[in-house]
Amino acid sequence: MIKSVDIIFGLAWGDEGKGKISNAISKDYDLVCRWNGGPNAGHTVYINNKKYKTHIIPCGIFQNKLSIIGPNCVINVEKFYEEIEYLKREGFDTSLVKVSPKTHIITEKHLIFDKLHLKEIFGTTGQGIAPAYSDKMLRVGELAKDHIDKRHIWDGELYGNILCEGAQSFWLDINYGNYPYVTSSETLPYASCSLGFSPKKIRDIIGVAKIYDTKSGVDPLFPESLWNDQDLNKIIELGKEFGSTTGRKRIVNWLRLNHLKQAIKISGTNKLIINKCDILQQINKYKIIVDDKNGLCYIDFIDFNSMKEYIVNDLKDYCEIIFSGNKEVI
Ligand code: IMP
Ligand code: MG
Repeated sequence: MIKSVDIIFGLAWGDEGKGKISNAISKDYDLVCRWNGGPNAGHTVYINNKKYKTHIIPCGIFQNKLSIIGPNCVINVEKFYEEIEYLKREGFDTSLVKVSPKTHIITEKHLIFDKLHLKEIFGTTGQGIAPAYSDKMLRVGELAKDHIDKRHIWDGELYGNILCEGAQSFWLDINYGNYPYVTSSETLPYASCSLGFSPKKIRDIIGVAKIYDTKSGVDPLFPESLWNDQDLNKIIELGKEFGSTTGRKRIVNWLRLNHLKQAIKISGTNKLIINKCDILQQINKYKIIVDDKNGLCYIDFIDFNSMKEYIVNDLKDYCEIIFSGNKEVI
């Protein structure tokens, strides 16, 4: 029997620190499940100051939880086993990793198409994501049940307290993102039901954001001119804003509050965690962007407290808000 479902997902363009939150709270759940995306994601977790990284396996594995990859994900078989071997070497129990028989497979053909036709134009991660989802929709895809060892295949009913771990984020969603600068899956909480539960079971929707915005890959919302800003460049360095899957430098901008608010409203976020507040404190610059009737308007604050107060005032009707700056704990 399913008791409850809580969902962690990203409110921005990815890389908000979803992995950190998932690792921090997954000890309280029976199952931790991924519902979307594939090895385009990179979830970084710190445990006792040691850095761990996964791309497809949910962070529940770090807390010894059954970690499930759902049927709406896409999986690269070779990379999956590389990740299993890495986790084994690090001492984690990989018999807990389970894949739905209906998860689709990323093939060599998908990787080649992505690298030849998509990577350059859209700055994709080159992991074959869009071609794999295309074949799924064309109904010519290959399934995990024919490619993954039976020991890792799981078609059971979900049970107990479930934590769903999103990948990519609101503004990369195939329906709500800035199409075509998006990924090819549904990144919003609504899509987590593809794991096999009723939306009535959803309890908390935990949206994760950062105190500034970043984009990995191409998006006209993040113009080239941002590379020239000194403060934003300091944020890249101090915040280590380099892709965990691609190693690319991420483009940074000040927090666009209206975008965040829209993402909170549409997703139904009732708990908001804003990460990396310590980075702004290190450069001692506190700025946000608001959209008003005259266009974009930049607001500077004298200190972090006044910035916090402004954000809380704007968002408090929708969600409870936690500001965090620690890489291990919330
Ligand atoms: P794809 O998912 O590899 O097709 O890439 C499509 C777009 O989503 C590109 O702009 C990528 O940089 C971005 N993207 C995909 N996965 C992630 C992620 O996990 N974090 C941040 N950006 C991502
Ligand atoms: Mg990431």
